[in-house]
Amino acid sequence: MNLLIINGPNLNMLGIREPDHYGRETYAGLVEKIQAYCGDLGIQASFYQSNHEGDLVDAIQGAYGKMDGIIINPGAYTHTSIALLDAVKAVSVPTVEVHISDVASREDFRQVSYIRQACIGTIAGQGTDGYLRAVDLLRERLEVRA
Ligand code: DQA
Repeated sequence: MNLLIINGPNLNMLGIREPDHYGRETYAGLVEKIQAYCGDLGIQASFYQSNHEGDLVDAIQGAYGKMDGIIINPGAYTHTSIALLDAVKAVSVPTVEVHISDVASREDFRQVSYIRQACIGTIAGQGTDGYLRAVDLLRERLEVRA
């Protein structure tokens, strides 16, 4: 099983940015943690992070025909980007939306997620463990389909 883990804007600043919301783990630490979890399960994990919307669209399109699943934390583009929604719809790769913080209990502008309607699930408010739960969810879904 091949999974692509995509992180959007400012997630490269993990460990530095607003630790009350996002904790103290760095982006490199996050990648290591997911890599180790996937490795134990025999899953091939690839990673991509960008602060640029078009680059994130390209990364989603690049998953077409190559990846079994996508895990995406679109950062602030969650709340603004129809382009990311359309990209996930275009490739039809099973996708899970992840947020480190509990977006539901934050500002009004964080209550909208465009990408959500194209995703098989959303995991939020579980810190960086949410990415591992997204792996679990994709495993369940993909194994059922296999
Ligand atoms: C986030 C939540 C978004 O509202 C915010 O813009 C982010 C990170 C999260 O992981 O909790 O950049 O996606």
